[in-house]
Amino acid sequence: MYGKEEQRRLFDLSKRLLLQAPDPVNALDASAMAAELRETIIYHEWRYYTLNDPVVSDFEYDMLYKKLQAVEARFPDLVTPESPTQRVSSDLTEEFALVEHLTPMLSLDNSYDAADLASFDERIKNYLGLPADLDIEYCVEPKFDGGTIALVYENDQITRAATRGNGALGDEITPNIRTLRSVPLRAEFSKFGIAKAELRGEAIIRKDVFVKMNEQRAADDLPLFANPRNAATGGLRTKDPSETSSRRIEAFVYQLGYAVDANGNSAFGLLKSHDGTIDLLGNLGFKIPQKSTDGGERRVCRNIAEVAAFCNEWQAKREQYAYEIDGMVVKANSLELQQRAGSTAHHPRWAIAFKFKAKQATTKLLHVEFQVGKIGSITPVAKLEPVALAGVTVSSVSLHNEDFIRNKDLRLGDTVLVERAGDVIPYIVKPMEELRDGSEREIAFPTNCPVCQSLLVRAEDEAAWRCENPDCEAQLLQRMIYHVSKHAMDIDGFGESQIERFYRLGWLRNIADIYRLDYEAIAKLEGFGEKSATNLRKAIGKAKQNPIHRLLHSLSIHHLGIKASKILAAEIENVMDLQGWDGERFRQIKDIGPVVTANVIRFFQHEKNVGLLREMESLGVNFTQTEDDRPKAVSADAPLAGKTILFTGTLAKMGRKEAQAKAEAAGAKNISAVSGNLDYLIVGEDAGSKLKKAKELGTVTILTEDEFLTLVDG
Ligand code: IVH
Repeated sequence: MYGKEEQRRLFDLSKRLLLQAPDPVNALDASAMAAELRETIIYHEWRYYTLNDPVVSDFEYDMLYKKLQAVEARFPDLVTPESPTQRVSSDLTEEFALVEHLTPMLSLDNSYDAADLASFDERIKNYLGLPADLDIEYCVEPKFDGGTIALVYENDQITRAATRGNGALGDEITPNIRTLRSVPLRAEFSKFGIAKAELRGEAIIRKDVFVKMNEQRAADDLPLFANPRNAATGGLRTKDPSETSSRRIEAFVYQLGYAVDANGNSAFGLLKSHDGTIDLLGNLGFKIPQKSTDGGERRVCRNIAEVAAFCNEWQAKREQYAYEIDGMVVKANSLELQQRAGSTAHHPRWAIAFKFKAKQATTKLLHVEFQVGKIGSITPVAKLEPVALAGVTVSSVSLHNEDFIRNKDLRLGDTVLVERAGDVIPYIVKPMEELRDGSEREIAFPTNCPVCQSLLVRAEDEAAWRCENPDCEAQLLQRMIYHVSKHAMDIDGFGESQIERFYRLGWLRNIADIYRLDYEAIAKLEGFGEKSATNLRKAIGKAKQNPIHRLLHSLSIHHLGIKASKILAAEIENVMDLQGWDGERFRQIKDIGPVVTANVIRFFQHEKNVGLLREMESLGVNFTQTEDDRPKAVSADAPLAGKTILFTGTLAKMGRKEAQAKAEAAGAKNISAVSGNLDYLIVGEDAGSKLKKAKELGTVTILTEDEFLTLVDG
């Protein structure tokens, strides 16, 4: 539909409009600007809705949209019927029956900062002719990022549920909504004189539930959901209510849109405030944003300044919240004031959305740096033109490996889409191919180590290129950093920056040096002092006593993870025993594969490594098996002794990890697939293909979670 040239022009045009477009002063300028805004917005809508592939962030789109709204508001003659502002959004499909909402479901105007909020407050007072210094009370709650729903209750029964649709008409999805446990099928509205009510709310999936659901889908070889919102809206619009049920969707209600008594007269009379209405809905059994004066998600604020502070507080902690939210919704608390302020055709005058900072943005890929890891793996890191993303400035992101670069076809000079979601570190979603002008250059992967210059090699089955020089300075440094880290020797208060500092001072060349530091010299360093030096000495002294599985893992032997280190530690009296082991000896140990075997053997063949270990031992590092290293004995009469077990579906009473630990304590071994080797399959809610396969096999004992608990706990 749009050619490459055309797309580049529209993209540049939107950037220009965003950056420098001044407010037009005369109708002629305004007309030109409105035309430019319209064509860019229509383009971005096509990218977003038709292609599912936006080239600007939601924030940038909103800004363009707002600019157009502002111009059209100032020069109403410029509004055309095909202007994006005149479109009513719709998610209708033909599969569901259409129903009319009892009152139209409006959308919300947007704000982005304290100044926007202040002008919203001012607008209300202006409109209602209230004094400018009057404090309006607002109720603020999260703007849930899920699927909007409308629920109708008649004579205390749920009679209908629908999607938002185009605001006037929605899809009827009653059977699906009835499966959501957070939606009461019956609620005593009649107690409050309400015979018929329509509630608005949001269907949403908890972030942690979403992650587990996708893990399960991956295990079952099903396609993954892109995000919790898609999983929720998709779940609402399926023709199979059991599918809706399996997605563990929850529904928050945040608005009473319609309420009449038995005679059809308004039943809002008893209700005074939005906050009180929400509490009432909570009392009727609905899931509502919880109120709390400290840390809660809903708050009544005395004035707009308090609103701004609360919104900013939530912007900072949105990632910690259990649900995806894309902003806060600010509502005048007094229902009487709401009534008087009324609505425009699009949105209520008494409410506004405060949108959080974008999580996606576009920026330029300037160049690529190649970093050397502790086992010599080369990681390409993209250096970006700094860009603001969900409250932080991003200028550097990992590109993982060469395949990542090739699969995404990234090039130097590309405009790239960067995303930062949840606690996830920022990553490049993709290059904007349509914005290339031919000046982009291929990213050349180095053939030699950027630090020691030795030739890089790439094993057939590995993603990374590696520097194989064990004396490479970059590797030595990374290995020391890893050695002291939480996962390895866990030396409290000793981290990357101290290691780097001591390394630059020439005090550290290898991991043995960590155990011969001169604490008097450290105490004299700027920023250290006696106390810190003493603390470091104590922490290192403590680490010397570590169980040997930590030591084994801390050596950065390729593929020797924590689990394999524990298995090996359980088999040896002393770390140096491994020096005499051959392949045959390793083969006798279950769960130690040929790759780990080869790497451990190679490590101990290297004289330098053995020398390093001997040094560490002489410096007092523990080399002998401790109680913690010995396998926990399981008696032969443990309830699941010698059995294999697998959990599938969602467990109700415990997490997957906890269940597996319980099984292990009862003597069982957790395995990951259904096969003839499997003794027990424990099925939680929504078990899928694994249950089916186990049934087909006919040799597996299938237990419910409760049966499993009875078996192991007696
Ligand atoms: S109030 C008349 N409150 O945001 C009041 N909406 O454009 C209109 N949304 O899709 C809605 N959380 O479903 C309201 N706490 C909240 C909300 C909320 C999410 C959604 C709403 C609609 C959009 C508003």
